[in-house]
Order: sequence, then C-alpha cells, then structure tokens
Amino acid sequence: MSNNTQAFDEWLRTRFVEINSQLEAIYWQQEDKANVEFVGEQFKHQLETEGNAHIHKLLAEGNTDEGFDRAFDLLGNVGLFMAACRRHEITEPSRETTSPLIEASALAMHIGASIGVTPRFATAHLTTHNKAINGLYKRFTDLPDEKLFIDYNTKGILAYKRAADALLKIQPLGISHPLCGDLLKVAKQALVDVIESNTALYNQLDSERFFFCVRPYYKPYRVGKEVYRGANAGDFAGINVIDMLLGLCFANEPSYSQMLVDKFLYMMPEDQQILRESMRMPSIMDDFLAAGDARDSSWFKTNAKLFIQVCKLHGDTAIGHHNQLVSKFIAQPAQHMQQQHMNKVTASGPPLHVLLDSLEQLRDRRAAAKRDDIRTRYDDLVQLKQWVSN
Ligand code: HEM
Repeated sequence: MSNNTQAFDEWLRTRFVEINSQLEAIYWQQEDKANVEFVGEQFKHQLETEGNAHIHKLLAEGNTDEGFDRAFDLLGNVGLFMAACRRHEITEPSRETTSPLIEASALAMHIGASIGVTPRFATAHLTTHNKAINGLYKRFTDLPDEKLFIDYNTKGILAYKRAADALLKIQPLGISHPLCGDLLKVAKQALVDVIESNTALYNQLDSERFFFCVRPYYKPYRVGKEVYRGANAGDFAGINVIDMLLGLCFANEPSYSQMLVDKFLYMMPEDQQILRESMRMPSIMDDFLAAGDARDSSWFKTNAKLFIQVCKLHGDTAIGHHNQLVSKFIAQPAQHMQQQHMNKVTASGPPLHVLLDSLEQLRDRRAAAKRDDIRTRYDDLVQLKQWVSN
C-alpha cells in the first residue's frame, strides 16, 4: 500500500469517524433530528478540508497499479468520504449539477472505470470486503446502532451467498442426483440463518437511531456529473441467483431484469460474473415440473419436498425483510418525518410509495403468492405439492 493510501485509510478509521460522530451528536439534540442545515459547520469544514487534502495527494500519485483488491479498497475509502459529505449536505445532488468534490470524483471515476464497478462506495466495501484491524472494521460513526446494522447486513449477505452456492452446485448434478438433497439441505439451513439474523436485527436495532443517524449515509450522491443511487444490502449476486435458480423470479420479466441491469455495476466483478451465468441457467423448479413422470419415484419425492421447503424459506426471508425491516425502519419512521425531508428518504431515490410497491412485488414473487397482476409460481408450487403428497 502506498504511504498516501495508508495515511488516508488511517484518517478514515480515526478522525473521519470522530467528526461524523460529533456531527451526529449535534443533529440528534435538535427537535427536528433530520435537519443538518447551518449546524456543526466547523466540523463539516474539517471533514471536507482534511479529506480533500488526502485525496489531492492520491490523485497526484496517479494509478499505482497495486492490483484489484487495493484499488477496490481505495475506491471504498473515497466513497465513504463522499457519502459522508452528502450526508452532512456539504454536497447535495439536487442543488448541484456536478459534484463540488472535484478531485474525489476524478479519483473515484478513475478507479471505478478501471476495475469495472460504479465510482461510488458499494455495500461490499462496508460488509463482505471491510478489513478489520484489531477487531475494528471501517464505519462512518462510532454509534453502536451502525455497528449492529453492518454486522447483521454482513451476516445476512454471507448466509444468502451460502444458499446461492449450494443451489449453483445442483445445476451440473441434476435434480435426481443422490447429492441433490444434501445441497438443498445446505440451502435450507443458510436461509434459516438469514431469517434468524434478520430477526435479531429487527429486535435489536433502534429505529430512530437507524433512521436519523445510519441510513442517511446510504443516500445517492453525485460523482462528477452523474448521480449514483445509494448502497443497499441487496447489492450482491446471491439473492438473485436464488430467485432465478429456484424459478421464483424471471430474468426475462421487465421489472425484474430492469433491477438486475441496474445493479450490475454495484456488485463486485466476481458477483457480476456469477449473476450473468445464472441468468442463462434453467431453473430447478422447471426441472422438477418437467420430471413429472418420475413423481412416484423416491428421489423425486425426497428432493421435491426439500425443494418446496427451500422455496418456502426463501419467501419467508423476503416477507421478513419487507414486513419487518422495511416497515419498522423505513416506512413507519417516514410517516412521522417532517414533509420537507420526505423526498430524501430512500437510498435509491424514487418516492417511498414507488419503492415500497416494487419491494412488495419482489416479496410476493419470492413467496410465490397468489396474484393476478404479476407472474408468480403459486400454481406451479401447488402442482409440485400435490405430486409429493400422494
Ligand atoms: C433492498 C431496507 C436490511 C437485503 C432494500 C431496500 C430497502 C431496504 C428500503 C430498497 C433499496 C433502496 O432503498 O433503494 C432495509 C432495512 C434493513 C435492511 C431498513 C434493516 C434495518 C437488510 C438485510 C438484508 C437485506 C440484513 C440481508 C442481506 C436486501 C436486498 C435488497 C434490499 C436483497 C435488494 C432488493 C431485493 O432484491 O429484495 N432494503 N434492508 N436488507 N435489502 Fe434491505
């Protein structure tokens, strides 16, 4: 790691966290906790000046070509700085047409374009690719609520990835293979882990703290002239690999494929590759439906039963995400928010009701709910359940 990269990383793990935490303490004392205008100005100034001084040196240093991991990590650090500037409204995308953080933008665009990801910080930077030093990984603030949120995001993502890996391994073996059942059991356990982890997050996270002091760091911000949407825990391939391999969602359906197209560059290149491949694979659901003639054989009964359980659990993770996490930590607090801040609530930018509607559709596809307006696998799962119950 170059000296400049190292110095920036150290600043980010110390001063950066101190300044953000001080600002959070100031905002929190106000009656309108969402207001950040004209408060803590000296801290905001310190944040901007100190961060820019590091970035100035890094930009002058140019492409040091120290490999993908180092480049990705540095992009994350620049991104955390830019996201904090946006959170404190040092920058504000609707106020500007191009980011006032000119050097940070240039550095982020240089790195992002050269490694094939968006030029902003992504979920992986804070979760699966966030190196801990002496037990401490990178964060915006020292608030326990933020740590809790990142810990459980990481746990959930890792568990979804375990489920996706197991399902991907079924593909070359086929649904009648003696080990298909073992892999479905691994997927089941992993999805149970997602549910348990999300339930713990739901029970432990303080909704006011999350809404006012954690979530604002995940807002969209401008890099150069483009606005990049906020990071969310869904920016990894595994969740969609599960959707498509189970056959619950379809890569050729406009709203779903739109979501995939939009998220590609927010994922690590290795995840982009996995997602591309899984978009071309047949689903396990279709394999079972096509093997209906074998429905009385013992392999079919055993494996199809496990498959149905995996589908049910995947639906339950989505129901928990929507009905618990999104409802308690986004939708309900938003109802009490002062109107002037409402347009800034979601990470991806669309109005809250539009976002909630699309998340609800995803939930119902994953849960194979009976719906007339969107395609779900309700009827196909009823069919499979009948076959295995005889
Ligand atoms: C997306 C809320 C935790 C998985 C989203 C979105 C919201 C949201 C509002 C839509 C993206 C946007 O804002 O633009 C929350 C809240 C959480 C939470 C309030 C906790 C306080 C988690 C966890 C996971 C997760 C722990 C597990 C890995 C996902 C996925 C997506 C997503 C996969 C992408 C959309 C999808 O495919 O369903 N989340 N989330 N979230 N979140 Fe969460």
